[in-house]
Amino acid sequence: MSSPSQLPKVWVARTFPPEGMAKLATKCHVVVHEGALAPSRQEILDGVRGAHALFIYPHVKVDKELLDTAGQQLKVIGTFSVGLDHIDLDLCKERGIKIGYTPDVLTTSTAEQAITLVMATARRMGECISSVKEGVWGTTWDNAMWLAGAEISGSVIGMVGLGRIGLAIAKRLAAFEVSKILYTGRNPKPELANPIGAEFVTFDQLLEQSDFVIVACSVNDSNKGLFDEAAFKKMKRSAILVNISRGVVIDQDALYDALKSGEIGAAGLDVTTPEPLPPSSPLLALPNCLVTPHIASCTVTTRNAMCDLVVENIFAGLEGRPLKTPVF
Ligand code: NDP
Ligand code: DGY
Repeated sequence: MSSPSQLPKVWVARTFPPEGMAKLATKCHVVVHEGALAPSRQEILDGVRGAHALFIYPHVKVDKELLDTAGQQLKVIGTFSVGLDHIDLDLCKERGIKIGYTPDVLTTSTAEQAITLVMATARRMGECISSVKEGVWGTTWDNAMWLAGAEISGSVIGMVGLGRIGLAIAKRLAAFEVSKILYTGRNPKPELANPIGAEFVTFDQLLEQSDFVIVACSVNDSNKGLFDEAAFKKMKRSAILVNISRGVVIDQDALYDALKSGEIGAAGLDVTTPEPLPPSSPLLALPNCLVTPHIASCTVTTRNAMCDLVVENIFAGLEGRPLKTPVF
């Protein structure tokens, strides 16, 4: 049995499923950031120093400073995410550092959370639950339109991003007998869109026509701040916005104004800026805004599958084999 100092060091940015950690420890000297809170930047830099592999998640920004601090022995980074906006991919490629990520295994769970947010915002679940807890129910149920919601059936769905997750969401919504599915993006994707009858439109057309606008794109320079004041003005006043992508796609101040003034109907967000969203955020005081804490992929099955994949990718990278799910 090798002593820890002979094994490659893997720095692990937070606690992940124990089975995966045990597997990692069979071949590596595992150093886990323990603690109730996400690691601070300084803790991250201290942790990565001298590591041969990193097991990270989107909170850990991989940039020049981090790579320089880690050192030249760093061979592979496994991120517990399909999103890659936290990693300077060009720089990693330039330095020959392999990157593994977790596509596909989280598509179903993330799509299911998007559907949860669509249904919960459409049927005003936040308000329903608090009205019962606060004892408002008895006094207002005599009004037939009290807490009246929106129907998914017959509605126009607008998908911003028809990638793996966007397509999985659209397929599930099709089963609700929606009237139309629109999608927008940098390129039309007829091979994905045609089987579900989705129609490629411009961003503006999508905003103008959709009852539910669902953001499922990856983040890049084309879509940071995409949902700004002008975008909200183009949406229907009854429109519901759901975001499972990343918080930066939405200008949150503009969203607050749009929700408060009735420019749009409601929003369901699994991702925000910053994360965690502080309890003092004005968004949380709005009855027509539901926020979940970036847990779209968080089912037991998916989280274990993600962990297994990251471990596999790290082993492959350390042993000089092709990664199972490489980014490049
Ligand atoms: P994919 O790469 O399969 O899909 C991303 C899609 O985004 C592509 O189809 C791409 O289209 C599209 N896109 C890029 N830029 C734009 C734009 N400006 N407007 C519209 N569409 C655009 O990735 P996944 O579907 O697997 O994942 C998508 C994202 O979801 C991840 O990158 C991550 O940020 C987020 N995510 C969040 C989770 C959560 O817990 N909330 C869980 C998992 C993922 P094109 O080819 O035309 O550029
Ligand atoms: C992702 O995969 O990008 C999520 O944000 C984390 O599950």
